[in-house]
Amino acid sequence: MASTGVFSDILYGDVFKYYADGEWKKSSSGQSVAIINPTTRKPQYKVQACTKEEVNKAMERAKFAQKSWARTPLWKRGELLHKAAAILKEHKSPIGECLVKEIAKPAKDAFTEVVRSGDLVSYCAEEGVRILGDGKLLVSDSFPGNDRSKYCLTSKIPLGVVLAIPPYNYPVNLAVSKIAPALIAGNSLVLKPPTQGAVSCLHMVHCFHLAGFPKGLISCITGKGSQIGDFLTTHPDVDCISFTGGDTGIAIAKKAGMIPLQMELGGKDACIILEDADLNLVAENIIKGGFSYSGQRCTAVKVIFAMESIADALVEKVNARVAKLTVGPPEKNCDITPVVSEASANFIEGLIMDAKDKGAKFCQEHKREGNLIWPLLLDHVTPDMRIAREEPFGPVVPVIRIKSIEEGIHHCNSSKYGLQGCVFTKDINKAMLISDAMETGTVQINSAPARGPDHFPFQGFKDSGIGSQGITNSINMMTKTKSTVINLPSPSYSMG
Ligand code: G3P
Repeated sequence: MASTGVFSDILYGDVFKYYADGEWKKSSSGQSVAIINPTTRKPQYKVQACTKEEVNKAMERAKFAQKSWARTPLWKRGELLHKAAAILKEHKSPIGECLVKEIAKPAKDAFTEVVRSGDLVSYCAEEGVRILGDGKLLVSDSFPGNDRSKYCLTSKIPLGVVLAIPPYNYPVNLAVSKIAPALIAGNSLVLKPPTQGAVSCLHMVHCFHLAGFPKGLISCITGKGSQIGDFLTTHPDVDCISFTGGDTGIAIAKKAGMIPLQMELGGKDACIILEDADLNLVAENIIKGGFSYSGQRCTAVKVIFAMESIADALVEKVNARVAKLTVGPPEKNCDITPVVSEASANFIEGLIMDAKDKGAKFCQEHKREGNLIWPLLLDHVTPDMRIAREEPFGPVVPVIRIKSIEEGIHHCNSSKYGLQGCVFTKDINKAMLISDAMETGTVQINSAPARGPDHFPFQGFKDSGIGSQGITNSINMMTKTKSTVINLPSPSYSMG
């Protein structure tokens, strides 16, 4: 069932239209892509299956619209973003309801995602106005052999067309975290939403449409990645790709040309727990970090390295809290909701069965109904088990008992991923040394990994990504430096 009211103009029959050239359009393909509700496992929505020709048109319009957008005063660009942020927040209910149906996000988290997104857009507008209004003046006589005859003026200018590809787990928030920096910096934007989450994205784009951005500046192209994915990411008109998702990002990076890339890929975020840690705090963070949105976050706690002496006590405390997690549909705000697809549930189950075969201790009974997987803590996990290395993106958290801090750091750094990690201890000196030793983009001390607040730098090492995100870094990344050098006559020049 599609939403109505203010969003009714984005529907054609029962298929959501795509957005290009300032208009909502029906694809000439005559085909649609079905979005399956993870809870009911039945088709929920349909979106247009756009063609390569429609991609070409959107790119052409984006390229054209960007030229005058780059000349639009910065304060005006900021003003429009503030307007879009306000409209987005006004529509938190219809958009949140879509998130519940498309990706089974618990209702309260779905509404929070939309509000957080509005705040992100506003912050971006303010930050952009501040940092892009600032240039630099260099004088030549600081470099040996030069006199003071050259003044170099540098400023940040836009890249051109930014292609944004967000993931299903935060389709709105991780879309605006690309859209807003791109727009404030004077770029145009082509958005390719994930299939699960596409309707939430279309609704979000509608808010930008209502705010009155120029025609062609923003497009939202829906369709199967297998049909238009490569075409989009290798398109000659694309000047920057900002992607969040899985290993597909590595393939995109290999094929992309000489353009800046911003990639947030997977993670195997480790949690190292020292003997002096506050175990109640750790247990609460494992629940929040490992099980919120059923573990479907890049920054979820994905492996626990606990010192042997405190492991039993910790596992007991976590188990007591797991028992209180509610399991069921997202509409009822359950803590654990169905994972995004049957394929994903099967993959998670494969990891669980592998751990079972290799002797892991199940702290709870393993239970699955459709895409719903009950939360599970696996104790006495060993490095040879798949769950020790692979990313489940589900409500399953493995515990590996360690004899030394060095062992925990060694396991953490053996991962191909390096997104975030965390360490729990009351000894700040040890925490800092461990943070230095962990090969991850961020280390949280005494808290679970998390991306927010959204202006903090956010980056992954190794297979976890390229570039740094966070509002300020994203704005900077979506610009290039332009210099103009004023060459003065020689010092003997007479001013008359
Ligand atoms: O999985 C997406 C990643 O960016 C997580 O964000 O806010 O849940 O830490 P967050």
